[in-house]
Parts: sequence; structure tokens; C-alpha cells
Amino acid sequence: MAIRNIREIGDPVLNKTCKVVKEVTDRTRELINDMFDTMYDAGGVGLAAPQVGILKRLVVIDVTGEEPILLINPVILETSGEQSGNEGCLSVPGKTGMVTRPNYVKVKAYDKELKPFELEGTELLARAIIHEVEHLDGHLYVEKVEGELMNVSDLEDEED
Ligand code: NI
Repeated sequence: MAIRNIREIGDPVLNKTCKVVKEVTDRTRELINDMFDTMYDAGGVGLAAPQVGILKRLVVIDVTGEEPILLINPVILETSGEQSGNEGCLSVPGKTGMVTRPNYVKVKAYDKELKPFELEGTELLARAIIHEVEHLDGHLYVEKVEGELMNVSDLEDEED
């Protein structure tokens, strides 16, 4: 188990376009395991490779804590509906903001054997998939925030 350093907003690596994964080597598998460890350790529901400084099209997601999902070279095939909610990112610590996203997404990706598969998601899973895929093209959710970026601590006060 290895926890990698999570890059934060302002780090230029977060604004780069990631490269397609053409083979899964031992190093790739180690990176994937580390990405899961890093995401769980930080209490996140998703993590993209550029967030640990690696410019590869690799994403890990787990919105329930019990359903680890690996997406290699993900491509969004279809979206529909709409949801608005507060979103956050491990690369933008302590912050949250309102983002409207599709409520449904269908994505094509590849597994560890580079076999293609399709995955559908709604609600939080749809949000996470789209958020993470955007990381692979150098985009952060803060570009899409409606209104102001808030401190998570302020939001918690509001809800009390
Ligand atoms: Ni993020």
C-alpha cells in the first residue's frame, strides 16, 4: 500500500491532457493500486491519475466504499437528465461548489486486461464519472461552479 501525494489546484499537471494507456504493465498496476489507496485514505469517491502527477488516462471511483471501479481510457458515450449539487475534489481541499451535471451517463472504458466494457451510472456515480473524465483533459470542477466556491466548513455551519 502506498499513498501518493495529491496535487493541488495551481499545479500545472492538473491542466494537461493525459495520454492514452496502450499497455498495462506492472508499473501501471502498481499505480492503479496506489490510486485506490490514495483515494480511500483521503476519503474521496474518485481520483484521476493526473491528481497524483501521472499524465495517463486512468480513473478510479468508489461512490459507496464497496464498489471499486477502474476506468482505463474512458470515453463518455451518452448523457441525459440533469442534477445540481455540491461537488468537491481532492485537488481542491476544503472547498465545495454547486455544479449542474447530467443525471445519467454511459461510459466506455477498458479494464486491467485492456478489455473494453460499458458502464452506466446515475446520480453520484454519474457525477463522479464525468468529474474524473474531465480531469483527464485538464479540467477541474471549479470552472463549472455556479455562484461562489465555498469552504466546506461554512457549508457545514449552514446545515447545523
Ligand atoms: Ni477531482
